[in-house]
Amino acid sequence: MLRVMKRLFIASRGNPEHLAQLFRAELPDFDVLTQQPESGDADVPFIVVGRPLPGVIRAVPGLKLVLSLNAGIEHLLASGEVPDELPIVRLVDEGLALGMAEWVLAQALAWHRNLFRYAEIQATGDWAPLAEKLANERKVTVLGAGALGRPVADHLVRFGFETRVWARSQHDIPGAKTYAGKAQLLEAVRDADIVINLLPLTAETADIVDKTVIDAMADGGFFINGARGGHVVDADLIAALDRGKLSGAALDVFRIEPLPAEDPLWKHPKVRLSPHVAAPTHQHMAVKEMAANIRRFENGEPVRNVVDRSLGY
Ligand code: NDP
Ligand code: OXD
Repeated sequence: MLRVMKRLFIASRGNPEHLAQLFRAELPDFDVLTQQPESGDADVPFIVVGRPLPGVIRAVPGLKLVLSLNAGIEHLLASGEVPDELPIVRLVDEGLALGMAEWVLAQALAWHRNLFRYAEIQATGDWAPLAEKLANERKVTVLGAGALGRPVADHLVRFGFETRVWARSQHDIPGAKTYAGKAQLLEAVRDADIVINLLPLTAETADIVDKTVIDAMADGGFFINGARGGHVVDADLIAALDRGKLSGAALDVFRIEPLPAEDPLWKHPKVRLSPHVAAPTHQHMAVKEMAANIRRFENGEPVRNVVDRSLGY
């Protein structure tokens, strides 16, 4: 008897073969396609996407669910590429949460314990101990209490930082003070030594880290951006670094990526850059999570981490 295979299409601009092998292992009853299916082909209910080229998603026949290889999906919403009726599932998995917590904590602790300063001082050959504080003498604010912000906040609390967390809705985070909504943003960042941005990029959060937010922070503070470049008014950030309001910034994400060679952030002495690697997708973990969601969909169970299009995340 002929067995009808279910179909999944991986729309990847790179080489999707490794990803396809992982999906075949998790979903052995699926035909995993790596070439664009065409209209007239058998239905392909599931698509796995990174940053697909225009027209790719709409051209898939019988599509029912879009699974993103990224946690941030603003590019899928902005392009209008995904028809309104199609649910989009963003990536939430342990690999992202662990990776982001490592990157953020590495930056926060390095700044807190003057490691960036000592690296500069070493070049001068000076033996110059600086005043050292303990974590409980620092105020740290996390913008975002989601899949990535929450574990970061938990780590900060464990280290003893005076931790504040700001989100859209009210959260209860043991050991941290929580703030909700635009009206409480400035209160949440007031006198913060470190502000960590882990928000999704939406109409409400674009440009949110501007002069007003930076000015509310403690003098000489440190800004960490692990979320999106579009959250930050770069001119305000650079001005704050130049006038000493901020002593530094760790940036993993930028308005344009790769960051253009002429961008002043590249050479700014107070900026630590990394090339969007804070929380890379670990394919073996992501595929397990996506396959489980595909099974839920097939069984008529609620699919996890579906994007709320009205909120943009
Ligand atoms: P989540 O959707 O799980 O969490 C988002 C958080 O932001 C929630 O706490 C939400 O509030 C809050 N939020 C959303 N809108 C607002 C608003 N208008 N005002 C205040 N708070 C708001 O996202 P993740 O934690 O999974 O990811 C966050 C972002 O990190 C991604 O969107 C992506 O841009 C970025 N990212 C970067 C990576 C990198 O390598 N640099 C890798 C992965 C992700 P509430 O809890 O009330 O809903
Ligand atoms: C992201 C991701 O959203 O890589 O940045 O998941």
